Amino acid sequence: MPQVPAGPHAVVVAGARPNFVKAKPVLDALAADGFRTTLVHTGQHYDEAMSGVFFAELDLRRPDHHLAAGSGSHAVQTAAVMTAFEPLLDRLAPDVVVVFGDVNSTLACALVAAKAGVRAAHVEAGLRSGDRSMPEEINRIVADRLCADLFAPSPDAVEHLLREGAAPRSVHLVGNVMVDTLLARRDEALARPTLAELGLHPGGYGLVTLHRPANVDDVAALAGLLAALGEIAARCPLVFPAHPRTAARVGDRLPPGVRLLGPVGYLDSVALQAGARIVLTDSGGIQEESTVLGVPCLTLRESTERPLTVIEGTNRVVGRDRRVVVTAALDTLEHPPAARRPALWDGQAGRRIARVLAQAVRAPAAGGVPADPVATVR
Ligand code: UD1
Repeated sequence: MPQVPAGPHAVVVAGARPNFVKAKPVLDALAADGFRTTLVHTGQHYDEAMSGVFFAELDLRRPDHHLAAGSGSHAVQTAAVMTAFEPLLDRLAPDVVVVFGDVNSTLACALVAAKAGVRAAHVEAGLRSGDRSMPEEINRIVADRLCADLFAPSPDAVEHLLREGAAPRSVHLVGNVMVDTLLARRDEALARPTLAELGLHPGGYGLVTLHRPANVDDVAALAGLLAALGEIAARCPLVFPAHPRTAARVGDRLPPGVRLLGPVGYLDSVALQAGARIVLTDSGGIQEESTVLGVPCLTLRESTERPLTVIEGTNRVVGRDRRVVVTAALDTLEHPPAARRPALWDGQAGRRIARVLAQAVRAPAAGGVPADPVATVR
């Protein structure tokens, strides 16, 4: 039998909740473009509720390799991923390593690939909050320096990359892969009995998510936010699916009208957002999803790395001061903003990424065609 030549080989790395959502459309698009793909789970998130349910609901295939890095301080976690990924990468010798977002696993695997001389691609490149006290900001900046292919979701991200000295031909404006998954799964999420099972009605509640260290590890900040949530809940009852980090910190200090749930899976998260009258969050992904779903969002942080959700979407960045948060929430409940969906947030970002990578690995000497500076990939 004649040997069929194998396609190029992409190692796709996912480690934490939001990575799983972003990896799915890219894995599918790479396979459709003739790539052989290997999925590596770093094990940064490991619980059924933080990891297992995402694989089941997103129809994500079982990881080919699991690095079991687990939790720890930033250095411990990053080092555990690096130590496990280095020999694996050596054995796999792929044409490209694809990393997503801004979690510790992203930085760890980009660094290992760059030092091993393996082409690395960063999906969701160029986002900047300008706040270096956030661990994610450090991860974003360093990952972008290390990767040869920089896939930006928005024009602001392209600007940051160019200002920081990225080669224009390495930068590709492709849109938002998280939105690919959202648009593909929205109808299925809306058909679920999520709201009914919780006794909720569309438009009759607000949704809260908090997990950033600056909000939940700082006792005074968390107390102020919980007090604000209590005041808002007097006007609009709140449900609060809590990340394990958050649940441990909140303990029994929950104000009346705020209902704590365990972490929810992807489809329930979309259903809860879509039915909410308002979303209060410190998550990056939820700022984007609420914009696409047209649900008013308040970001309980001092900055955002996703300014399009403010300029075009429903998001307002309100910080964590109790009075400011309550005033903004009551105002938003009275006057909900209208939203536009940003350009290229159209469900096709994964396909664009696969097309660029297919060209890049087949013509590596060209340094990642196309040749025009900063391609907007159509
Ligand atoms: C990480 C990302 C953050 C992302 C978030 C999504 C970094 C620096 N941060 O934050 O950008 O928005 O994931 O959820 O990478 N834990 C469990 N079960 C798990 C995983 C974690 O109980 O499956 C608990 C552990 O107590 C752990 C804590 O959550 O110490 C924090 O987990 P970690 O992955 O270190 O950071 P996240 O806060 O989840």
